[in-house]
Amino acid sequence: MKTAEQVCSTDLDYIARQGHDEFSRMSGRRVMIAGGAGFLGYYLVQGALHWNVRNPSAAPIKVIVLDNFMRGVPQWLTALEKNPNLRLLKHDITVPLPSELGDVEFLIHAASIASPIYYRKYPIETMDANINGLRFLLDYCMAQKKKGRPVEGVLFYSSSEIYGDPTTENIPTPETYRGNVSCTGPRACYDESKRFGETLCVNFARQHGLPIKVARPFNNYGPGLKITDGRVIPDFARNILSGNDIVMLSDGSAKRTFCYVADAVLGYYKTLVKGRDGEAYNVGVEVPEISMAELADRMVALGRELFGYKGKTVRQQSNDKDYLVDNPNRRCPVITKARTELGYDPQVTIDEGLRRSVIWYSGNREASEA
Ligand SMILES: NC(=O)c1ccc[n+]([C@@H]2O[C@H](COP(=O)([O-])OP(=O)(O)OC[C@H]3O[C@@H](n4cnc5c(N)ncnc54)[C@H](O)[C@@H]3O)[C@@H](O)[C@H]2O)c1
Repeated sequence: MKTAEQVCSTDLDYIARQGHDEFSRMSGRRVMIAGGAGFLGYYLVQGALHWNVRNPSAAPIKVIVLDNFMRGVPQWLTALEKNPNLRLLKHDITVPLPSELGDVEFLIHAASIASPIYYRKYPIETMDANINGLRFLLDYCMAQKKKGRPVEGVLFYSSSEIYGDPTTENIPTPETYRGNVSCTGPRACYDESKRFGETLCVNFARQHGLPIKVARPFNNYGPGLKITDGRVIPDFARNILSGNDIVMLSDGSAKRTFCYVADAVLGYYKTLVKGRDGEAYNVGVEVPEISMAELADRMVALGRELFGYKGKTVRQQSNDKDYLVDNPNRRCPVITKARTELGYDPQVTIDEGLRRSVIWYSGNREASEA
C-alpha cells in the first residue's frame, strides 16, 4: 500500500467483509449517523456505502448523515453527495431532531467534540451535545415507538474517559470498573457528560424497552482523523510530514493502547446490531500498551522508511496549562465482553495501523483547524 486511496480501499473492503453479518441486518434500513462528518463517521459512512456496492443484490443500507457541519461539509462527503443511498442533513443535535428526518431504523449518536484540546475550549457545547442531544434522540425513539415504527437499534458513543484515571489494580479496565473521575476538572465536561449519557441510555432501555447500546472507544486512530485534530498521532504525523522534529508535550511516559479505526468501526457496528440493550462495551485493543515516547520512536522509524525523514523527538512544555491535568497515566481495556458477546476481533497491528495512517496523512496533509 503506497497511497491514501489504497489504504482506504483496503480498509473499506476489510470493513465490508468482516462486518457482513451486521450490514446484512441493516440491509434495506435507514441508518442515521449523528456526527457522521467526523473522524469515526468517515468509515462508519463509507463502510456501509461500500457494503452496498459489494452486495448489489441486497437492498441497500440508506445512510443519513446528520451534522452541524461546523466547518463546512468535508470534501470526502461532498464527493459522495450523488450517492443515492446517502443523505446529508445539516442539523445541530442540541435541538429536537428535524421532522424531515422521517422514519429511521438505526440511530448512531457520534455528535460530540472528541478532542481534549477542543472540548476544553467548548465545554458547554460538549455537554449539550452529549446530554441534550442524546435526550432529543431518545425522545425521537419514544415518538417512533408510539407511532408504531419502533427503531431497531441505537448506539451511543460514550468513551474510555468515563473510567477517568483508573487505579493500578483496575488496569486493564473491564466494563465493570466504576471509574475514578473528577466532576469539576478541565476534562469533566466530557467525562461526566458521557457518564450521564450512559445513565440516560440504561434507564431508557430499562424503563421503555428501547434497544440502546453503548460503546466505550479506547483511543482510535487512522484515516479520517484530521491532521489538525490535536490528538497525538495526527500531531506526530504533521511533524513528520513537514520535516520538523516530533514535539512531545509530556515526559513521554503515559501509556495507551491504540485501536486502528477499521477495527473500531467493526466493533461499533457489532455493538449497534448485536449488543444487549442497556449494555456498554469496551471497543479497543488490549495489546500492545505503549508509551508516548515509544509511539514517537515508532513513528520516527516509519517516517525514515517511508519518506527519508531526518527528524528526532524533542520535549516541550505545552502553552496550555491544563494540557496534562487529569490526563490518565495508563489506559488499556479488557475487551472480553465484546469478543465473546459480539464476535469483535481487532486484527490490524499497531505497526500496520501506523503505517496506513502515515500514508493516509501523506495524501491528506491539509485540513482546516479542527
Ligand atoms: N475517536 C476516538 O478515539 C473516540 C474515543 C472516545 C470517544 N469517542 C466518541 O465518538 C464520537 C465520535 O468521535 P470522533 O472522533 O469521530 O469525533 P469528531 O470530532 O471527529 O467528529 C464529531 C462530529 O460531530 C459533529 N458535531 C459536534 N457537535 C455537534 C452538534 N452539536 N450537532 C451536530 N453535529 C455535531 C462535528 O461536526 C463532527 O463532524 C464522539 O461522541 C466521541 O466522544 C471517540
